[in-house]
Amino acid sequence: MNENTIVVLVSGRGTNLQALIDATQSGYIPGRISLVISDTPGAYALVRAQKASIPTVVLDYHSFSEKKEYESKLLEILEKEHPAVICLAGYMRIIGKMILTRFPQQILNIHPSLLPAFPGLDAQKQALEYGVKISGCTVHFVNEGMDTGPIILQAAVAVKDFDTVETLSESILQYEHKIYPEAVKLFLEQKLQIIGRTVKIKE
Ligand code: GRF
Repeated sequence: MNENTIVVLVSGRGTNLQALIDATQSGYIPGRISLVISDTPGAYALVRAQKASIPTVVLDYHSFSEKKEYESKLLEILEKEHPAVICLAGYMRIIGKMILTRFPQQILNIHPSLLPAFPGLDAQKQALEYGVKISGCTVHFVNEGMDTGPIILQAAVAVKDFDTVETLSESILQYEHKIYPEAVKLFLEQKLQIIGRTVKIKE
């Protein structure tokens, strides 16, 4: 394993990637991002990586005839990179079994709700439609399910009466940018202990 290296998987604008870049550059996270992989050509996250002189790879999902083929290529790149941790940051695909088996308890994700409420797509819209008064965000380990892995950190955000999907997403995002770097820091400091589906944080 390449000690304290982080690979980030993205699909879009990459504000969480930016938070991770900033936290590695400031020394808050004791590690470095060695590679950013995007399944989407033209994702703005790629520009952020390039600005920070981080190598990038584009694996255009739609150029593969089958998901299995895409995953094999992704696995090949990840194995070569051999990171300590893989961070999904607005990565819009489910991680397949092949990759999960190869990197057990080494893949983290950030989700914009207080899991187990509102997993999957459009979590903020789901929260507004349900009428909850508190939502938030969750960093968790990735398992075979959809946003069901052991929870590392959460932050709560009050839903305001006249919040829209946009305003609520923006409020939650501010907290995503805090707890994702914090979770990666704890991971690299080897302070996370998974017991069943509970994550204990060592002193
Ligand atoms: C974030 O809200 C994250 O929680 C979700 O997708 C969004 C990605 O935003 N998984 P960004 O690309 O990090 O700006």
